[in-house]
Amino acid sequence: MRILTVVGTRPQIVKAAPVSRALRAAGHEEILLFTGQHYDRGLAGAVAEDAGLPVPARTLGVGSGSHAFQVGGIARGVAGFAAECRPAAVLAAGDTNSALGAALGARAAGIPLVHGEAGVRLGSFDLPEEANRVVADHLADLLLCPTERAAAAARAERPRGTVVAAGDPLLDALLAREDGAPGDPSPGPFLCTFHRAENTDDPARLRRLLEGLAGVPGTVLLPLHPRTATALDREGTGSVPLNVRLGPPLEPRLLVEALRAAPAVLTDSGGVQREAYWLGVPCIVLRDSCEWRETVEEGWAVCAGADPARIRAAAANPPRGSRPPDREAFGGGGAAARWVRAVEERFG
Ligand code: UD1
Repeated sequence: MRILTVVGTRPQIVKAAPVSRALRAAGHEEILLFTGQHYDRGLAGAVAEDAGLPVPARTLGVGSGSHAFQVGGIARGVAGFAAECRPAAVLAAGDTNSALGAALGARAAGIPLVHGEAGVRLGSFDLPEEANRVVADHLADLLLCPTERAAAAARAERPRGTVVAAGDPLLDALLAREDGAPGDPSPGPFLCTFHRAENTDDPARLRRLLEGLAGVPGTVLLPLHPRTATALDREGTGSVPLNVRLGPPLEPRLLVEALRAAPAVLTDSGGVQREAYWLGVPCIVLRDSCEWRETVEEGWAVCAGADPARIRAAAANPPRGSRPPDREAFGGGGAAARWVRAVEERFG
């Protein structure tokens, strides 16, 4: 079977790698299209090499721009390429502009759509990603959900496609890396990553967040997304607390090493939040609410928003779950194989 996989951002690249390997191992032909939404080497090229993703057959070079600009350009590019190579299905995962663009492009070309990481919901359209994933889910012929909870949420919306709880390939990617990791890491600094517009683009909120980081009892390693780097430049050099060590974006392998060694991670990334949960690392979510509620309900994560007092309190007393993290709920590392089986059953 020929599958056209569309990726465009760092998290999509990381999640696509195990699925790509599983597709090839099962004898399918995978053609990769890279949208170019992320173009910095630290966000795309180095990540793809580290993850072992094959070289794309087509690159769109859409670059940065408004939601409409990115989604429209990607939809046009995907529709054109899908019409040329006539795959059995287009596969796009997640909630980025690249995922929605791919979904619209597949529909325009009349090619079935597989949407991965389906059924994940925040419950608020204030987040640009929420609209992206809801629309992609409803355009999909096959919805591959990371957990039973996400599958139930998808079914409740009565989508036209088939809903399957198939696991989270981000866990597959993590376990593949963990296999090669040395035993217990020596204790490292706190780790922090944030890049969402709600945290970077509102100067008052950014200052509160930095005030929170200043109250963390220890050194904080902060690898910078380009948008965060721009926001900190705008604030001026004096804005970064003395206990915060800035650095370039980390390749997935190094990020996981830093995470395993951290007493706690502070993040607004859903991917880092899940990885922390699976590794049993306490997570302070720099958002007012989040999608991955199981990590909060089980006591491994706490939403502190950008409130300095809550950030400080959580870092002083990091959330440790009431029971061990439940990797099985996310497919236990066998998601990629299950994704491939679900695609074969639906389109084979
Ligand atoms: C996107 C996803 C987000 C995901 C994140 C992971 C959407 C709506 N959001 O957010 O869900 O968590 O990727 O990183 O798709 N920029 C660069 N170089 C790049 C890419 C971006 O400098 O290679 C800067 C540009 O100023 C750009 C800004 O970052 O305007 C935002 O980039 P964009 O791709 O729109 O969204 P992300 O914040 O990366």
